[in-house]
Amino acid sequence: MEQELYNIKENALKEINDVQDKKLLAEIKVKYLGKQGELTAILRNMRNIAPEDRPKMGAIVNEVRNALEEAFYSKEDIFAKQELEEKLQSEKVDITEPSKGIRKGSLHPIPSVLDKFIDICVSMGFTVVEGPEVESDYYNFESMNTPKNHPARDMQDSFYITENILLRTQTSAVQGRELETRKPPFKIVVPGRTYRNDSDSTHSPMFHQMEGLVVDENVSMADLKIMLSEMMKRLYGENTKIRFRPSYFPFTEPSIEVDVSCPNCAGNGCKTCKGTGFLEILGAGVVNPKVLEIAGIDSKKYRGFAFGMGIERTSMVLNSISDLRPMFKNDARFLNQMK
Ligand code: DAH
Repeated sequence: MEQELYNIKENALKEINDVQDKKLLAEIKVKYLGKQGELTAILRNMRNIAPEDRPKMGAIVNEVRNALEEAFYSKEDIFAKQELEEKLQSEKVDITEPSKGIRKGSLHPIPSVLDKFIDICVSMGFTVVEGPEVESDYYNFESMNTPKNHPARDMQDSFYITENILLRTQTSAVQGRELETRKPPFKIVVPGRTYRNDSDSTHSPMFHQMEGLVVDENVSMADLKIMLSEMMKRLYGENTKIRFRPSYFPFTEPSIEVDVSCPNCAGNGCKTCKGTGFLEILGAGVVNPKVLEIAGIDSKKYRGFAFGMGIERTSMVLNSISDLRPMFKNDARFLNQMK
């Protein structure tokens, strides 16, 4: 039996040494050490051995098993290393290969103008607030001193949902909400979507506005003009000329419209500005005291000024485009050309 064990050891070690394949090695392992393996069979036979011989035989069996396990372990290790090496060779990355290039994404022209304008306003001390797009007739019109049947409503062909609920036609709607809840003095801007039943090359049924509102004890038209001039210069460029024209809005008194010199032709006249050298960009004015009173603010103590700017208009001017509709078609060939 002792001899038999040493034979097993010798044969197994030779086979392990000669084998060149991981799968065959596993088979050899089963052949010797598996449940039906040769060494296991001998172990099972131990009970037939005379008790006084058992310790010696046990020691030999252990020695043989340890030797085989050791041999299997080192051979498996060799195969694993070989396999890893082959994998590393075949998956080698050629770091000198030229790259395919990275395509850079960019912001859509609308949010990009909004972001720029918001940054300007925040740097001037404004707080950004938002309001609902589905709005009550009260906040959209009544609180803005535009009662039912007011002729100024005709300018804003509205999408009504019920008699008293509509898609807001102007971010001015948020003025009424904020005037009710904020304590003066405050400075807010309201970026957001607005809706009107208009659709042609310069009007979209959904468009964006940015509203501004300042309420304090001693503010005047002069402050509004200085502030807007500064904002427009930062938005359109240092050399931009600004023009103020009298206008009318129910929520401001006096009201103005603001034009900026056409950035496309620097005010000389071109197609973008229809030869006038200027582009109409926003409405503004001193807040009508009635608007403050409707919201419960003492109009003898406080005054305000406000402005509302069309974002699509601004983006069209900055990008020299005459039709805004492609902005909402998401054709990357068009959007990639935008600044
Ligand atoms: N809400 C006006 C519109 O959509 C724009 C506007 C004009 C807003 C004057 C204002 C303002 O805050 O003071 O046509």
